[in-house]
Order: sequence, then structure tokens, then C-alpha cells
Amino acid sequence: PDLNLELLPEAPSTNEVAAERARAGAPDGLLVVADHQTAGRGRLDRTWETPAGAAITFSLVLRPTVPASSWPWLPLLTGHTVSKALASFGYETQVKWPNDVLIEGRKVAGILVERIETDSGPAAVVGVGINVSTPADELPVPTATSLAVAHPDLTPTREGVLLGVVAAVREGYDAWQAGGSEAASRLASSYVAHCATVGQDVRVDLPGGTAIAGRAVDVDLDGRLVVETGDGVEKVGAGDVVHVVP
Ligand code: BTN
Repeated sequence: PDLNLELLPEAPSTNEVAAERARAGAPDGLLVVADHQTAGRGRLDRTWETPAGAAITFSLVLRPTVPASSWPWLPLLTGHTVSKALASFGYETQVKWPNDVLIEGRKVAGILVERIETDSGPAAVVGVGINVSTPADELPVPTATSLAVAHPDLTPTREGVLLGVVAAVREGYDAWQAGGSEAASRLASSYVAHCATVGQDVRVDLPGGTAIAGRAVDVDLDGRLVVETGDGVEKVGAGDVVHVVP
């Protein structure tokens, strides 16, 4: 397909720009890249802050043709493919459920997938943020890292990483869309095998302010984390995992 790219020096949030374009009819595949975001958004109504020029921030408009029941896997698919793309540059990455990409236990990339309604049907905006050259003292939280901080001896360019990650996300998505239930179960087992969360004792802070604790044992067909607690099995659709250090 034609390259459909909007390259912006600055945007409040590429997810917001991409959603606007999708509502105005943008087709599957529109890629919005910002050199700098001034009001980046994170999961669960948080902000995503990056110093100018130090991060990769992009959003992809997708118009999935898979059944709506498969959509909850989109964030996990994206986290998995971003993780693999960064690994191809030499970083040892893992995914923390649902879609945080970690290097040595610290978050290097975040993903925000939003479903929106448009006149031409529902669309997904897949937003990816990667800390590339952010120095340690400009990382927003102690649990964050950047490619430069995690592995100063690897020096890929920001453009090179952007292209590699975009290509991986697009390819992963196309294979998943085209592959039916076989691709879906292949993705699920590959995701679980590379997920830092499954097999761990965790606390999951739920959006309402409560939390559950137990052992994460699996991810189900709806992308939910399966946690064995003292009271039985719970399935979590959204939340923040804290890995319990024994
Ligand atoms: C998170 O970890 O909470 C998700 C962070 C997602 C950040 C990316 S940067 C590009 C896109 N535009 C946004 O406003 N957010 C996503």
C-alpha cells in the first residue's frame, strides 16, 4: 500500500491527531509521527512525558477486520512486536502485562491502544512511545529507563529504531489479521513465553483503586491476565502489575 505518513515537528499527542484523522476518514495504515509531544497520554488516564528529541512517539490508524472479540489482543500484540523489534537491535526486552516493554525490569516503552467510532466504522489508534536517548536524570519515574541508559554501548539512531519498530508492528498486525484462529493462538503462546509477568507472584492495582494479589498463571483469549489468588482464579482486564519481590 501507499505510504501514508504525517510527520509533525510537534503535536500534543499523536494518538489525538491520529484519532482526529480517523474520524475524518483516514484509511487503515495512516502513520502519525511527532518529533516531540507536548501532552502525551498514557494508559489509565495518565500522562506520558518525554523531553524534546529524546523519544519515539507515533500512532498508527488501523481498521481491523477481525471480529470485535479479538480486539483486546491488539495492545498485547503491539507490546510483543515492539519488544521483539527492540530485541533485534540488541536489547534484552520483556513485556510486562499488558503491554509495557521492559529492559532489565525497567519500562522503556509504553503503548496506548484506543478504540474509536468513525463514520466508516470502528477504528483502532495504536500509540507507541519509546524512550530512546533520555538521560537518567530526565526519566519521569525511577522504574523507567531509556535505550541509552539501559545499554549505552548500543547506539542505533532514533530514525533506525522508528523504522524497525513501525515495520514490525505493521507486519505483526498483518500476520495476526490474516492468520485467523491459528495466528491468534500462536501469538498467545509466544506472548506468554516472553511475558515477564506470567509465572510471577504479583499484585495488580485495579483501576477502581482496589488490588488483588496472587500468582499470574496465564493470559486468556480475551487478553486478560489470569491470577490465582487465595480465593480462586481471577481474570483481570485492566490494571497495573507490580511484581512482588520474594
Ligand atoms: C503507557 O505506558 O501508559 C502508554 C504510553 C503511550 C505513549 C504513546 S507516545 C505516542 C502515543 N501518543 C500518546 O499520547 N500516547 C502514545
